[in-house]
Amino acid sequence: MQRSLLTLLRGFSLMALLTSAAATAADKIDLIIDTDPGADDVVALLLALASPEEINVRALTTVAGNVRLDKTSRNARLAREWAGREDVPVYAGAPKPLVREPIYAANVHGEEGVPGIAVHEPSKGLAQGNAVQYLIDTLSNAEPHSITLAMLGPQTNLALALIQAPGITQGIKEVIVMGGAHFNGGNITPVAEFNLFADPHAAQVVLASGVKLTYVPLDVTHKVLTSPARLQQLAALQNKAGPRVVDILQAYVKADMEHYGLPGGPVHDASVIAYLLAPELFSGRKVNLTIDSREGPSFGQTVADWYGTLEQPANVFWVNEGNAQGFFDLLTQRLQRLP
Ligand code: RIB
Ligand code: CA
Repeated sequence: MQRSLLTLLRGFSLMALLTSAAATAADKIDLIIDTDPGADDVVALLLALASPEEINVRALTTVAGNVRLDKTSRNARLAREWAGREDVPVYAGAPKPLVREPIYAANVHGEEGVPGIAVHEPSKGLAQGNAVQYLIDTLSNAEPHSITLAMLGPQTNLALALIQAPGITQGIKEVIVMGGAHFNGGNITPVAEFNLFADPHAAQVVLASGVKLTYVPLDVTHKVLTSPARLQQLAALQNKAGPRVVDILQAYVKADMEHYGLPGGPVHDASVIAYLLAPELFSGRKVNLTIDSREGPSFGQTVADWYGTLEQPANVFWVNEGNAQGFFDLLTQRLQRLP
């Protein structure tokens, strides 16, 4: 083959490589995960940390929620250690909600916040500085609309950052929230989901900020359920991560299976990360969302106007369907990469 033709072909293949690399870099999700580990938070963190080609996890920011802040922060460090990703900093944030009295879910997640397995003090500590200040500094100085936030617990940290520095919205690409419930009722009250119930005022601040917002509510997470076969595919992984997640989930889903009489239980927070990795597994629509913070039976309720009855502007994308087997296949395939 003529040398000039070879040179030309090499040029094309290099260009193709550079283009695809550039495209890949451009497509990579720059992500901060705000979390209250939490059994399902741990699964979400492992899934995200096992997916470095698609997700650059900049940091984990912790908040009180399922258990107290000292334990959610220890558990985030544990998940980071189990994933072999101690390169990712963990910043501790708000120890209590904006307004209401703190509530916890140790009855579901266990006193240590990670049920079904033994926990220990991870070797690597917290990053210096508070999570709220980290959010303010990072989002204020980020490229315009470049950073995605996954909110896996009460939204207290982000709300405090928005209150102190409203301009941080300039750095936010979108916020994906595990939270809320509409069609099939709540899990902590007949109408409210835990993350919203634990700090509805914070969720209202985030909603009012005008950031691009997606909710992954119980409407979908209660359709993406464990099953013996799905747990078995995780248990069959030849590493520690697979069996560890099975032990956590088997302990975690018991409460929901008994409460709802379901054949399996949800992995709420991991659905947020799966949505980022494989949005084609999910569907929903843009709706007008309102959040109730009035004292009484509707405290923490999310009203998603699915049929546009109120004729109010849509302000969130509300996910209500998910491919359960696709989720567990993705989770299995990614956990396989971990130690
Ligand atoms: O209602 C489920 C949510 O509340 C999940 O994020 C779980 O971890 C708890 O925080
Ligand atoms: Ca959580």
